[in-house]
Amino acid sequence: MEIVVLPDPDSVARLSAALVADAVRGKAEPVLGLATGSSPLGTYRELRRLVESGALDLSRASGFALDEYVGIPEDHPQSYAAVIRSEVVEPLGMDPARVRVPDGRADDLERACREYEEAIAAAGGVDVQILGVGANGHIGFNEPTSSFGSRTRIKTLAERTRADNARFFDSPDEVPTHCLTQGLATILAARRVVLVAQGAAKATAIGQIVEGPVSARWPGSILQHHPAATVVVDEAAAAELELADYYRFVWEHKPSWQRVEPLPA
Ligand code: F6R
Repeated sequence: MEIVVLPDPDSVARLSAALVADAVRGKAEPVLGLATGSSPLGTYRELRRLVESGALDLSRASGFALDEYVGIPEDHPQSYAAVIRSEVVEPLGMDPARVRVPDGRADDLERACREYEEAIAAAGGVDVQILGVGANGHIGFNEPTSSFGSRTRIKTLAERTRADNARFFDSPDEVPTHCLTQGLATILAARRVVLVAQGAAKATAIGQIVEGPVSARWPGSILQHHPAATVVVDEAAAAELELADYYRFVWEHKPSWQRVEPLPA
Protein backbone atom coordinates (compact mmCIF):
# COMPACT_ATOMS: atom_id res chain seq x y z
CA MET A 1 0.00 0.00 0.00
CA GLU A 2 1.30 3.43 -0.88
CA ILE A 3 0.25 6.31 1.37
CA VAL A 4 0.60 9.90 0.21
CA VAL A 5 0.00 12.72 2.68
CA LEU A 6 -0.67 16.08 1.04
CA PRO A 7 -1.37 19.50 2.52
CA ASP A 8 -5.02 19.99 1.49
CA PRO A 9 -8.03 18.60 -0.38
CA ASP A 10 -7.05 20.36 -3.64
CA SER A 11 -3.68 18.59 -3.67
CA VAL A 12 -5.48 15.28 -2.98
CA ALA A 13 -7.76 15.95 -5.97
CA ARG A 14 -4.87 16.80 -8.32
CA LEU A 15 -2.77 13.77 -7.45
CA SER A 16 -5.65 11.27 -7.38
CA ALA A 17 -6.87 12.44 -10.80
CA ALA A 18 -3.34 12.10 -12.17
CA LEU A 19 -3.15 8.55 -10.80
CA VAL A 20 -6.49 7.62 -12.37
CA ALA A 21 -5.48 9.14 -15.71
CA ASP A 22 -2.16 7.30 -15.56
CA ALA A 23 -3.92 3.97 -14.91
CA VAL A 24 -6.08 4.28 -18.04
CA ARG A 25 -3.53 5.90 -20.36
CA GLY A 26 -3.07 3.96 -23.59
CA LYS A 27 -6.18 1.83 -23.02
CA ALA A 28 -8.71 2.15 -25.85
CA GLU A 29 -11.64 1.09 -23.68
CA PRO A 30 -10.67 1.54 -20.04
CA VAL A 31 -12.89 0.39 -17.20
CA LEU A 32 -13.37 2.71 -14.24
CA GLY A 33 -14.74 1.78 -10.82
CA LEU A 34 -16.72 4.78 -9.58
CA ALA A 35 -17.36 5.94 -6.03
CA THR A 36 -20.03 8.45 -5.09
CA GLY A 37 -20.13 10.65 -1.97
CA SER A 38 -18.14 13.81 -1.28
CA SER A 39 -14.62 12.38 -1.20
CA PRO A 40 -14.02 11.84 -4.94
CA LEU A 41 -15.71 15.05 -6.14
CA GLY A 42 -12.38 16.87 -6.40
CA THR A 43 -10.92 13.94 -8.30
CA TYR A 44 -13.81 14.09 -10.79
CA ARG A 45 -13.39 17.86 -11.07
CA GLU A 46 -9.72 17.45 -12.01
CA LEU A 47 -10.48 14.59 -14.41
CA ARG A 48 -13.00 16.87 -16.08
CA ARG A 49 -10.27 19.49 -16.58
CA LEU A 50 -8.15 16.84 -18.28
CA VAL A 51 -11.03 15.77 -20.51
CA GLU A 52 -11.86 19.36 -21.45
CA SER A 53 -8.23 20.10 -22.28
CA GLY A 54 -8.16 17.11 -24.63
CA ALA A 55 -5.52 15.30 -22.56
CA LEU A 56 -7.92 12.48 -21.62
CA ASP A 57 -10.70 10.84 -23.59
CA LEU A 58 -13.21 8.75 -21.65
CA SER A 59 -15.84 8.53 -24.40
CA ARG A 60 -15.14 4.81 -24.86
CA ALA A 61 -14.58 4.07 -21.17
CA SER A 62 -16.92 1.86 -19.18
CA GLY A 63 -17.85 2.61 -15.59
CA PHE A 64 -19.19 0.55 -12.71
CA ALA A 65 -20.52 2.32 -9.64
CA LEU A 66 -19.68 0.82 -6.28
CA ASP A 67 -23.15 0.86 -4.84
CA GLU A 68 -26.77 1.97 -4.88
CA TYR A 69 -29.53 2.37 -2.33
CA VAL A 70 -32.31 -0.21 -2.38
CA GLY A 71 -35.80 1.02 -3.11
CA ILE A 72 -34.99 4.62 -3.97
CA PRO A 73 -36.63 5.85 -7.20
CA GLU A 74 -34.11 6.19 -10.04
CA ASP A 75 -35.04 9.84 -10.56
CA HIS A 76 -34.53 10.68 -6.85
CA PRO A 77 -31.68 13.21 -6.84
CA GLN A 78 -29.83 11.10 -4.24
CA SER A 79 -30.09 7.80 -6.05
CA TYR A 80 -26.54 6.88 -6.99
CA ALA A 81 -27.72 6.37 -10.56
CA ALA A 82 -28.66 10.07 -10.65
CA VAL A 83 -25.47 11.16 -8.85
CA ILE A 84 -23.23 9.15 -11.17
CA ARG A 85 -25.02 10.65 -14.17
CA SER A 86 -24.65 14.26 -13.02
CA GLU A 87 -21.26 14.11 -11.24
CA VAL A 88 -19.39 11.68 -13.46
CA VAL A 89 -20.94 10.61 -16.76
CA GLU A 90 -21.92 14.03 -18.05
CA PRO A 91 -18.91 16.06 -16.87
CA LEU A 92 -16.40 13.42 -17.99
CA GLY A 93 -17.97 12.88 -21.41
CA MET A 94 -18.62 9.19 -20.74
CA ASP A 95 -21.13 7.18 -22.76
CA PRO A 96 -24.18 6.56 -20.49
CA ALA A 97 -24.73 3.20 -22.20
CA ARG A 98 -21.34 2.02 -20.88
CA VAL A 99 -21.87 3.08 -17.27
CA ARG A 100 -23.74 0.85 -14.84
CA VAL A 101 -24.98 1.24 -11.31
CA PRO A 102 -26.30 -1.75 -9.31
CA ASP A 103 -30.06 -1.97 -9.80
CA GLY A 104 -31.52 -1.25 -6.37
CA ARG A 105 -35.03 -1.27 -7.80
CA ALA A 106 -34.89 -4.77 -9.32
CA ASP A 107 -37.63 -7.23 -8.34
CA ASP A 108 -34.96 -9.89 -7.97
CA LEU A 109 -32.08 -8.21 -6.14
CA GLU A 110 -29.92 -11.33 -5.93
CA ARG A 111 -30.12 -11.77 -9.66
CA ALA A 112 -29.33 -8.06 -10.20
CA CYS A 113 -26.18 -8.55 -8.09
CA ARG A 114 -25.13 -11.66 -10.03
CA GLU A 115 -25.65 -9.86 -13.32
CA TYR A 116 -23.61 -6.91 -12.08
CA GLU A 117 -20.65 -9.16 -11.34
CA GLU A 118 -21.06 -10.78 -14.76
CA ALA A 119 -21.08 -7.37 -16.45
CA ILE A 120 -17.83 -6.37 -14.70
CA ALA A 121 -16.23 -9.63 -15.80
CA ALA A 122 -17.53 -9.22 -19.38
CA ALA A 123 -15.94 -5.75 -19.51
CA GLY A 124 -12.60 -7.37 -18.63
CA GLY A 125 -12.47 -6.26 -14.99
CA VAL A 126 -11.87 -2.84 -13.50
CA ASP A 127 -8.66 -1.02 -14.50
CA VAL A 128 -8.82 1.54 -11.75
CA GLN A 129 -11.17 1.72 -8.78
CA ILE A 130 -11.76 5.13 -7.23
CA LEU A 131 -12.69 4.86 -3.54
CA GLY A 132 -13.66 6.97 -0.58
CA VAL A 133 -13.83 5.56 2.93
CA GLY A 134 -16.59 5.81 5.52
CA ALA A 135 -15.86 7.07 9.03
CA ASN A 136 -16.45 3.47 10.14
CA GLY A 137 -13.90 2.13 7.66
CA HIS A 138 -16.33 0.89 5.03
CA ILE A 139 -15.38 0.89 1.34
CA GLY A 140 -18.30 0.71 -1.02
CA PHE A 141 -21.04 -0.02 1.49
CA ASN A 142 -19.15 -2.97 2.95
CA GLU A 143 -19.94 -2.18 6.54
CA PRO A 144 -17.88 -3.51 9.46
CA THR A 145 -17.80 -7.35 9.56
CA SER A 146 -18.32 -7.64 5.79
CA SER A 147 -16.72 -10.77 4.42
CA PHE A 148 -13.39 -10.38 2.66
CA GLY A 149 -14.74 -12.91 0.15
CA SER A 150 -17.88 -10.90 -0.59
CA ARG A 151 -19.14 -10.06 -4.07
CA THR A 152 -21.94 -7.67 -5.08
CA ARG A 153 -24.86 -8.23 -2.72
CA ILE A 154 -27.45 -6.58 -0.50
CA LYS A 155 -26.24 -5.02 2.75
CA THR A 156 -27.89 -3.26 5.66
CA LEU A 157 -26.43 0.20 6.16
CA ALA A 158 -24.79 0.89 9.52
CA GLU A 159 -26.42 3.49 11.74
CA ARG A 160 -23.26 5.62 11.42
CA THR A 161 -23.47 5.51 7.62
CA ARG A 162 -27.14 6.47 7.61
CA ALA A 163 -26.39 9.36 9.99
CA ASP A 164 -23.43 10.51 7.85
CA ASN A 165 -25.48 10.38 4.64
CA ALA A 166 -28.52 12.10 6.16
CA ARG A 167 -26.99 15.40 4.98
CA PHE A 168 -27.99 14.48 1.43
CA PHE A 169 -31.66 13.90 2.34
CA ASP A 170 -34.47 16.11 3.68
CA SER A 171 -34.68 14.07 6.89
CA PRO A 172 -32.61 11.26 8.47
CA ASP A 173 -35.60 8.89 8.19
CA GLU A 174 -35.46 9.21 4.41
CA VAL A 175 -32.04 7.54 4.21
CA PRO A 176 -32.65 4.00 2.93
CA THR A 177 -31.81 1.13 5.25
CA HIS A 178 -30.43 -1.18 2.54
CA CYS A 179 -28.13 -0.99 -0.43
CA LEU A 180 -26.52 -3.10 -3.10
CA THR A 181 -22.75 -2.89 -3.00
CA GLN A 182 -19.79 -4.40 -4.77
CA GLY A 183 -18.17 -6.79 -2.35
CA LEU A 184 -14.71 -6.56 -0.84
CA ALA A 185 -13.49 -9.33 -3.17
CA THR A 186 -14.96 -7.41 -6.13
CA ILE A 187 -13.07 -4.28 -5.12
CA LEU A 188 -9.88 -6.20 -4.47
CA ALA A 189 -9.99 -7.61 -8.02
CA ALA A 190 -9.53 -4.12 -9.56
CA ARG A 191 -6.07 -3.82 -11.12
CA ARG A 192 -5.39 -0.43 -9.51
CA VAL A 193 -7.03 1.25 -6.50
CA VAL A 194 -6.94 4.94 -5.63
CA LEU A 195 -8.57 5.82 -2.29
CA VAL A 196 -9.02 9.45 -1.27
CA ALA A 197 -9.88 10.88 2.15
CA GLN A 198 -10.03 14.42 3.44
CA GLY A 199 -10.83 15.95 6.81
CA ALA A 200 -10.59 15.06 10.48
CA ALA A 201 -13.75 12.91 10.39
CA LYS A 202 -11.78 10.31 8.41
CA ALA A 203 -8.63 10.30 10.56
CA THR A 204 -9.53 7.26 12.67
CA ALA A 205 -10.67 5.22 9.68
CA ILE A 206 -7.48 6.04 7.78
CA GLY A 207 -5.32 5.19 10.78
CA GLN A 208 -7.09 1.85 11.15
CA ILE A 209 -7.23 0.77 7.52
CA VAL A 210 -3.63 1.76 6.80
CA GLU A 211 -1.83 0.79 10.02
CA GLY A 212 -4.27 -1.37 11.95
CA PRO A 213 -4.57 -5.12 11.62
CA VAL A 214 -6.36 -6.44 8.56
CA SER A 215 -9.76 -6.93 10.09
CA ALA A 216 -13.37 -7.00 8.98
CA ARG A 217 -13.99 -4.54 11.82
CA TRP A 218 -12.38 -1.92 9.50
CA PRO A 219 -13.24 -3.30 6.06
CA GLY A 220 -10.94 -0.95 4.10
CA SER A 221 -7.99 -2.66 5.81
CA ILE A 222 -8.36 -5.41 3.19
CA LEU A 223 -6.60 -3.00 0.81
CA GLN A 224 -3.37 -3.91 2.63
CA HIS A 225 -3.59 -7.07 0.52
CA HIS A 226 -3.98 -5.20 -2.77
CA PRO A 227 -0.81 -5.15 -4.87
CA ALA A 228 -1.38 -1.65 -6.29
CA ALA A 229 -3.42 0.49 -3.90
CA THR A 230 -2.62 4.15 -3.25
CA VAL A 231 -4.21 6.04 -0.38
CA VAL A 232 -4.12 9.82 -0.90
CA VAL A 233 -5.05 11.89 2.16
CA ASP A 234 -4.85 15.46 3.35
CA GLU A 235 -3.14 16.43 6.61
CA ALA A 236 -6.38 16.32 8.60
CA ALA A 237 -7.22 12.78 7.49
CA ALA A 238 -3.60 11.74 8.21
CA ALA A 239 -3.75 12.90 11.83
CA GLU A 240 -3.83 9.38 13.32
CA LEU A 241 -1.12 7.87 11.11
CA GLU A 242 1.77 6.93 13.35
CA LEU A 243 4.16 6.66 10.40
CA ALA A 244 3.08 9.84 8.58
CA ASP A 245 6.65 11.21 8.51
CA TYR A 246 7.84 8.01 6.86
CA TYR A 247 5.13 8.28 4.18
CA ARG A 248 6.15 11.90 3.49
CA PHE A 249 9.79 10.83 3.20
CA VAL A 250 8.92 7.98 0.83
CA TRP A 251 6.90 10.32 -1.37
CA GLU A 252 9.63 12.99 -1.46
CA HIS A 253 12.25 10.40 -2.37
CA LYS A 254 10.25 8.38 -4.85
CA PRO A 255 12.40 7.63 -7.89
CA SER A 256 11.50 9.83 -10.86
CA TRP A 257 10.78 6.82 -13.07
CA GLN A 258 8.09 5.69 -10.64
CA ARG A 259 6.49 9.05 -10.02
CA VAL A 260 3.12 10.24 -11.22
CA GLU A 261 3.09 14.01 -10.72
CA PRO A 262 -0.03 15.80 -9.45
CA LEU A 263 -1.87 17.80 -12.09
CA PRO A 264 -0.86 21.48 -12.09
CA ALA A 265 -3.04 23.87 -10.07
C1 F6R B 1 -19.81 5.73 -2.12
C2 F6R B 1 -19.25 4.73 -1.23
C3 F6R B 1 -18.86 5.03 0.17
C4 F6R B 1 -18.27 6.42 0.36
C5 F6R B 1 -18.01 6.69 1.84
C6 F6R B 1 -17.48 8.07 2.09
O1 F6R B 1 -20.09 5.15 -3.39
O2 F6R B 1 -19.15 3.63 -1.63
O3 F6R B 1 -17.92 4.09 0.61
O4 F6R B 1 -17.08 6.54 -0.36
O5 F6R B 1 -19.21 6.53 2.55
O6 F6R B 1 -18.46 9.01 1.78
P1 F6R B 1 -18.09 10.55 1.65
O7 F6R B 1 -17.11 10.63 0.53
O8 F6R B 1 -19.37 11.23 1.30
O9 F6R B 1 -17.51 10.95 2.94
